Amino acid sequence: MDIAVQTLNLPAGSEVITTPFTFVGTSNAILYNNLKPVFADIGKETRNINPEEVRKRITENTKALIYVDYAGQPCDIKELKEIADDHDLFLIEDACHAIGAEYFGKKIGTFADMTVFSFHPVKHITTGEGGAVVTNNKEFYERLNMLRNHGIDKSALDRFGPEAGWAYDLKVLGRNYRITDFQAALGISQLKKLDGFLRRRAEIVKMYNEAFEAVSEIETPVVLSYVKPAWHIYTVLLNRLNRDKFFGKMREKGIGVNVHYIPIYMFSYYQEQFNNKPEDFPVTEDVFSNIVTLPLYSKMTDDDVLTVIELVKDFGTVSDMCFL
Ligand SMILES: Cc1ncc(COP(=O)(O)O)c(C=O)c1O
Repeated sequence: MDIAVQTLNLPAGSEVITTPFTFVGTSNAILYNNLKPVFADIGKETRNINPEEVRKRITENTKALIYVDYAGQPCDIKELKEIADDHDLFLIEDACHAIGAEYFGKKIGTFADMTVFSFHPVKHITTGEGGAVVTNNKEFYERLNMLRNHGIDKSALDRFGPEAGWAYDLKVLGRNYRITDFQAALGISQLKKLDGFLRRRAEIVKMYNEAFEAVSEIETPVVLSYVKPAWHIYTVLLNRLNRDKFFGKMREKGIGVNVHYIPIYMFSYYQEQFNNKPEDFPVTEDVFSNIVTLPLYSKMTDDDVLTVIELVKDFGTVSDMCFL
């Protein structure tokens, strides 16, 4: 994310619009580059950035938009691209949740100026740590290559062999973001398993959705007709139930529920630097107070899923403790 943003070479202080309902990795990348993150509220059903809210946040200083495919569901990319075209903005797709997802039948990774994937251990596929940026812009590709290698314009391989010289230049100030060969080997092997992992994740999501269809306390995620998500997390909204009591009860039972995400503007570091007001993000606030993430990973057995479903239904329909 960091060098994807750095590749854009934006003047210091430029504004970059993004969602507040994401992991800090998205917006920290804006800060690393001395740019200003400007948050736009989300849509309740998909938890993705709301294009209408993006339009409202644009100023003459806005230079880029980073959208996040929350939970693995692609954003409304067509609308976001239209906004980018209207206002001459660069687009970065944070697809850290969405490797393998499709938008109108086309794999994500082909829409924005750059698309970023994460291979952190909780993701669909892993290299232990690390990630990847994809682009079909040659200039961006060359800059990304330098930025991940301290800013040097020739890799060790470029300087190897009878034909090669020793010289290299430092064209920009980069960092060492090189993936190791050991990690790459793991990644290549993981990539071969991706389709199977995605299939299993989709099966589990289907089991959850079907089980909760008739439970009025549980609002399941809404999927747009023209996208195929690559489920990274499965989140539900709780109706009339106290999320924190629900969370505590489930954890007591050994179920690894979680909350994704604490809105970025709530963190102390962001509060100290920016004057974001919660009332500017009513949907994010509402979703954040009621959302819970249920376990989802490809090794979950049907029995594991059924255990979670039973416990959720129990708390959703029986336990007074959890009612507001
Ligand atoms: C939306 C999003 N963006 C960025 C990141 C950062 O990824 P990493 O932890 O690989 O740096 C994550 C990781 O969880 C994420 O969920």
